[in-house]
Amino acid sequence: MSTTKWWKSAVGYQIWPASFKDSNGDGFGDIPGIISKLDYVKSLGVDFIWLSPTYDSPQHDWGYDISNYEDIWPKYGTLKDMDALIGGCHSRGMKLLLDLVLNHTSDEHAWFEESKQSRDNEKADWYIWRDPKFVGGVRRAPNNWKSNFGGSAWTYVPERDQYYFHLCLSEQPDLNWENPATREAIYESAIRFWLRRGIDGFRDDVVNHYSKDQSFPDAPVTAPNDEFQLMLPESFLNGPHMHEWLQEQRRKALAPFGDDIVVIGELPLTPTDEVLRYTSSHNRELDMVFDFEWMQSGIDHSKGMDEWSAPKLSEVKAGFAKAQGFLNDKALDAWTTSFMENHDCPRTVSKYGDDTTPKSWAASAKMLSMLLCTLSGTLFVYQGQEIGMTSLPADFAVEDMRDKPIITRLRADLAKRPNDPEYRSCLMRGFSYVGRDHNRTPVQWDATSPGAGFTSAAEPWMKVNESYRSINVQSQLGVSGSVLEFWKRMIQLRKHVDWKDLLIFGHFQLLDPASEETFTFVKSFEKRSVLVALNFSGDVQRVFVPDGLDLSASEVLVSNYEDAPVGDLQTLRAWEGRVYIIS
Ligand code: NOJ
Repeated sequence: MSTTKWWKSAVGYQIWPASFKDSNGDGFGDIPGIISKLDYVKSLGVDFIWLSPTYDSPQHDWGYDISNYEDIWPKYGTLKDMDALIGGCHSRGMKLLLDLVLNHTSDEHAWFEESKQSRDNEKADWYIWRDPKFVGGVRRAPNNWKSNFGGSAWTYVPERDQYYFHLCLSEQPDLNWENPATREAIYESAIRFWLRRGIDGFRDDVVNHYSKDQSFPDAPVTAPNDEFQLMLPESFLNGPHMHEWLQEQRRKALAPFGDDIVVIGELPLTPTDEVLRYTSSHNRELDMVFDFEWMQSGIDHSKGMDEWSAPKLSEVKAGFAKAQGFLNDKALDAWTTSFMENHDCPRTVSKYGDDTTPKSWAASAKMLSMLLCTLSGTLFVYQGQEIGMTSLPADFAVEDMRDKPIITRLRADLAKRPNDPEYRSCLMRGFSYVGRDHNRTPVQWDATSPGAGFTSAAEPWMKVNESYRSINVQSQLGVSGSVLEFWKRMIQLRKHVDWKDLLIFGHFQLLDPASEETFTFVKSFEKRSVLVALNFSGDVQRVFVPDGLDLSASEVLVSNYEDAPVGDLQTLRAWEGRVYIIS
């Protein structure tokens, strides 16, 4: 496996701009605010920033609906600010990656505004248009697909007497990648424009959606009472041209800017052999992907949100084992990622750890950091994860949420059984497993102001999580034993010359796949191995020790408890994690 690419041993930090730091008191984070915190980001041990979309956008999906790839949303700043951010990262030895949203644009993008005018304009087929279907004389969408964000995947436009296709919101029409002229316009406007300005790579949004089955067969009816049906993954994911187009994208848009440009794909619902086709270094399609298998545990899209259950550790572990396994076939020379948070999910300390007492919160946040920092692949930290930010409380009001798809869904569900507190609490339990608003609250910089140091505005764009009084950067920075200082220590360890090969590039072997309480694995590189034992429960657990291993002969490299292990080396306390050097 090649170890020379800069991005393999790098640590990435994701910034979600609306909530990172507001510099001008308008309640929204902005680019100057990000610049003001670059030293902080650097001090964590970060090598590159992945910046979620800052492009011009009507913000129906918080920037994932882009109306102009070549400009900045005014609340975030200007192109000049962006140039300063690129320079600010580079002068500190960090790189900057932008989000590349190419499956769809905003319906306010000039390309779509032209496309929707008529069936024969120059951009008529830059988006995916189909004629209506008539059932008993009534106009219907071309097929029964339900969009990923709810409702029909089609929206009617009278000017063309046609429907356009959208996998996400109706304000996010899907681009027609089948058209070479559209692809070239995307490469020029969204990719080359930014590489010329000096950025270092991209995170490709829903990258495996570009090519889909454009015969649009009806989905099987799995919910007879619903008008729209869940799309089959094979109909809208990993379509027939994916590999061809990504190789073209590399050749025409990325490679001219050098071999160091990195592309990370968001790749849901994709089997391992297919992931490896995307990520093998021989194909030069994607350099690595975010695989979400471990996140799916407990979520059943064919059921109501009130019926979803807590993730099962055994399933989460299987998902991580899958993603670690991307490194196994040395001939393919593929790569992987180590991550647990982003802007689309709840806070991990609340979902997989225990945020109910200060003690369990601190121990579990640190234990989760041990997991991520000992897994192979490129490590990603999401803003606020390093201080153990928590999810929103169960009584958080729908009116205070900001994520359109979930608001629509919760409102519709709540309307089915109004005044039923038990049902509401089941729905909110589902929200606690998948809600995207949890990770979008402002970063908690301090406890001294109502805006948590994020903003001086009386009303930030989204409410600050009340936990800011006890969980914030100021109270942890430089404080020995804090979650923040622990993260820094783990990142330093991961990059330490003695451990880097093993922790970042080592082989992963899961030891206790069936346990619902512990996550135990061996990492090995050449002759050295460590055993990572993590207690995912509030109870004492025994370390799973493989046959023939004498743990008493091993040394503890790191633990999330300050004091020495109690009892024998084989007992893990509540949420305790330990890394043992075993050879
Ligand atoms: C994935 C992004 O991470 C998410 O935030 C967005 O809503 C969808 N793609 C659509 O672009």
